[in-house]
Amino acid sequence: VVVCAGAIASDDFSIDDVPGTSGRLDVALRCIRAALLVSHGLRRDVVVYAVLGGGPRAPRVLRVDAGEARFLRPDERSLAVLARKVLATRADEAQPGFVEVRPGIALARGGLDEVVRDVEGASLFVLERGGTDVRDAADVGASDVAFFLGDYVGLPGAARDRLASLGARPLTVGPVEVHAEDAITLVLNEIDRRSAGAPR
Ligand SMILES: C[S@@+](CC[C@H](N)C(=O)[O-])C[C@H]1O[C@@H](n2cnc3c(N)ncnc32)[C@H](O)[C@@H]1O
Repeated sequence: VVVCAGAIASDDFSIDDVPGTSGRLDVALRCIRAALLVSHGLRRDVVVYAVLGGGPRAPRVLRVDAGEARFLRPDERSLAVLARKVLATRADEAQPGFVEVRPGIALARGGLDEVVRDVEGASLFVLERGGTDVRDAADVGASDVAFFLGDYVGLPGAARDRLASLGARPLTVGPVEVHAEDAITLVLNEIDRRSAGAPR
């Protein structure tokens, strides 16, 4: 779950300049790629949520479920085109909760609490420096887990407080502050290694 406080929640941005016209929706797009796409395939058991807090149609959540999605391409431009088409819809205005716009791709009006409802039952982790090292967190990947990250400005204080009140635990991928998509890759790599029984 990447919380992008300034990222635009509508299709009102330029495909030719996503970083400059979308409140940095490009960060969310790179997170989607990092979380869902591997070489020649998708991580079918991963769902990404981008909480979009920018523009007049915010807050809104874009959900991409790799178990159901089709035709996801790894390049940022293709993902931006897809996001723009999906964000143009008004289907989510007609009913509460997530509304599927395309196979595996849904939108919901609302912010973090829409996601919290959707991941009910999962163990919650906040990715930040100074938490438990992901290598030492025995339950990461053992059952359903949800990881919350900030974008280039970090996780907003209100989101941090809300997640703390839900018992979310801080988790770190290392001593250096990295980009959100790289933090996702590092967590997934740890889970991949455990799944494959790789030596630690
Ligand atoms: C580019 S960083 C945010 C930088 C921002 N200036 C801040 O102070 O939080 C984007 C997100 O990646 C995650 N992240 C970055 N480095 C991390 C680390 N070493 N361990 C865990 N999460 C990290 C955090 O969720 C962070 O909000």
